[in-house]
Amino acid sequence: MIRNFLSIYFIIIIAILAGCGAVEEKASSLGAGDSDNQKLVMATSADYPPYEFVDTKKGGEIVGFDIDIANHIANNLGYELEIKDMDFNGLIPAIDSGKADFVIAGMTPNEERKKSVDFSDEYYAAQQLIVTKDKTIKSVEDLEGKTLGVQLGSIQEKEADKLLKEHNFDVVQRNKVTELVQEMKSNRIDAGIIEDAVAYEFLMKNKELSSFVLPNTETAGSAIAFPKDSELTEEFNKELKKMKEDGTLDKLIEKWFGVKK
Ligand code: ARG
Repeated sequence: MIRNFLSIYFIIIIAILAGCGAVEEKASSLGAGDSDNQKLVMATSADYPPYEFVDTKKGGEIVGFDIDIANHIANNLGYELEIKDMDFNGLIPAIDSGKADFVIAGMTPNEERKKSVDFSDEYYAAQQLIVTKDKTIKSVEDLEGKTLGVQLGSIQEKEADKLLKEHNFDVVQRNKVTELVQEMKSNRIDAGIIEDAVAYEFLMKNKELSSFVLPNTETAGSAIAFPKDSELTEEFNKELKKMKEDGTLDKLIEKWFGVKK
């Protein structure tokens, strides 16, 4: 009887101790204690394979080229990352309002953006394609009278505005590139401007779409954006440089873009 009582008592004590351990572990993984200042909030727009997208096979995890770069750098610098997914158009405002420590989203540094954020060195470059389901659209001239879709707040939106100076078509903006593709498939939009690597991902999965290069555009690089005068810019640049020199970046390019450099 007494022995039984003692062993139950013992089991309860063990259970309580184990419980405490579990609670403690959870708190530290949430960034409590001294790991608190080590956490960085990274914002992205996960509508952009292979840069960043939601992997349904991995339970909705956000994965991609940018995510690997960010994780690699954060890991080397001893930061923990929290990823926030939002519309592309909300990324710079997220930095401005202090809701994000940095943005990685295949974002191209341009003068307008540089007024509110600082950029790292560029880590990849792309060119622009016109994507369409309409087989009669084979050149920019064929866009006459059609609707051309672009992502809101993107440099593709700017490219469309430039084209409007010489051509006559409607420009429609969407929050997500995935919406553009959906609407092209359902004939609500005739064509869209999408950068090459991203376009190829969608072309692969949607055989009814085709593409051609948008002429007279410069290649657009991608860089990481930080709040103005953030110390992170320099820290990240050093790591990016190492990644370029030691082959890590090339390996990631091969992994996500399938091209050997
Ligand atoms: N490179 C283009 C820009 O900076 C498009 C980037 C879109 N990125 C995204 N994750 N949707 O405007």
